[in-house]
Amino acid sequence: MQRRWQVNRQLGSLYLMTGLMFLLAGVAFGVLGGLVYLFPQELRDALPFTRLRPLHVSSIVFWILFSSIGGLYLYQIKKDGKNINGYTLGHLQFLLLLTAAVTIMCCYLAGIFGGREYWEYPPALAIPIAVSFLLLGINFYKSVRREKGPWPIYRWMWASGIVFFLLSFSESYLWLLPYFGDHLVRDMAVQWKSYGSLVGSWNMLINGGAFYLMCRLSGDASLARKPLTFFFFFLGLFNLMFNWGHHIYALPVSNTIRYTAYLVSMTELLILGKIIWTWRSSLSDARKNAGLLPYRFLIAADAWIFLNLFMAILMSIPAINLYTHGTHITVAHAMGTTIGINTMLLLASACYACTRYFGGFSAAQLRRIMRGLYLSNGSLLVFWVALIGAGVGKAVLQVQTPDLPHALLMQQLRPWFIAFAISGVGIAAGIAFVALPLLQTLLLRRAKPEQQPQPEKEIYAYE
Ligand code: HEM
Repeated sequence: MQRRWQVNRQLGSLYLMTGLMFLLAGVAFGVLGGLVYLFPQELRDALPFTRLRPLHVSSIVFWILFSSIGGLYLYQIKKDGKNINGYTLGHLQFLLLLTAAVTIMCCYLAGIFGGREYWEYPPALAIPIAVSFLLLGINFYKSVRREKGPWPIYRWMWASGIVFFLLSFSESYLWLLPYFGDHLVRDMAVQWKSYGSLVGSWNMLINGGAFYLMCRLSGDASLARKPLTFFFFFLGLFNLMFNWGHHIYALPVSNTIRYTAYLVSMTELLILGKIIWTWRSSLSDARKNAGLLPYRFLIAADAWIFLNLFMAILMSIPAINLYTHGTHITVAHAMGTTIGINTMLLLASACYACTRYFGGFSAAQLRRIMRGLYLSNGSLLVFWVALIGAGVGKAVLQVQTPDLPHALLMQQLRPWFIAFAISGVGIAAGIAFVALPLLQTLLLRRAKPEQQPQPEKEIYAYE
């Protein structure tokens, strides 16, 4: 059992470390992208935005995938010695995903494309990603098949995250078949539907880890079994399958589909916010202090849930959506949620894992992480407002002076872009302050033989 735990610990830390490295690469590419916003002509040849954008977005997607899977390997260990073992499967899965991720980055750097937006690499590279998720599914199934009694919510989330990733990832490649690829409306509808579901599927993986954490930090096992929590899960699942309506606003589909989709995605955010809020108030002071670091990241995510919810509700009003569509307001929404919610939840999980399984942090490291948390969130607020400002400015200029050439329009928005680029550097620095001590802890402590985490009674009291 001790050895199995070591194997999972090793796999978990491999995933977390790789994820953190992609996060650092992602923010570095983001900062370069911000510079291109300011000096588009000067940097056009040296740093083409067509390469930087996919490099940035894919690094961020791999940060999300690697770190959420890392949490799954670390948290899914069982009390009776059965675990998510499969030493070979687990490492093969890691190697496949890593090879695909690194090759994709190299393709972008070399200017080799061939895919669609967000997955712009040559489609053949989708195969190792899909196979690695298949292996993760097999490993997960092996770890839960003898499970007795009803599952806690996080296990359902992990399971549905894996299954729906495989389904929607395959769906996002249907354009390769002429039946879809040759028919514009069908092609776009399937494409955007699959993207909505893909985001939903990795949200499931992230939220599963966040729920596990909340149960552990509060010591309140019932959180993973409350009817409201399950209601949220089913709503999230429904959302994952049907929230794509708002992506195809411009396509000739029924209004009922669009409005239902919007309504569902809004409710989900609200309920997630409510759950974290309730959990927060249920923590005793002692527990709060014991888990201070992850707790702070969870609270930051909660604040961003509410801010993004507010904006998403505004964006969902058709009269407003008409103007915001395709502006920086959409980028503010995308980055506000992936940085503010996804990244904060994943960092909470990484801090928890480092504290619990890899020896924790020194006082200096803790101070740096706290500084990073405040810097990244403070900068994100400025960044988010600047993007919204640029989006509103663009919409107003387009309505008031429809004949204004694009270059002049962008010139007028320059103050917003300056704020965007400077605060982007702040986010990147803040993230580095957090990520580097995490990496250091994982690297230094990984090799040391360490005690299996806490007696079962404490960890699995609620299972
Ligand atoms: C954890 C940190 C970050 C995450 C999770 C993140 C996430 C994202 C996502 C999801 C997009 C795609 C947006 C869309 O499709 O509309 C994006 C685009 C972008 N991001 Fe970030 N980002 C991060 C940090 C940064 C930083 C620090 C900068 C620095 C300025 C930056 C600059 C950009 C730029 C320039 C784009 C392209 C926007 C466009 O298409 O016009 N990002 N980011």
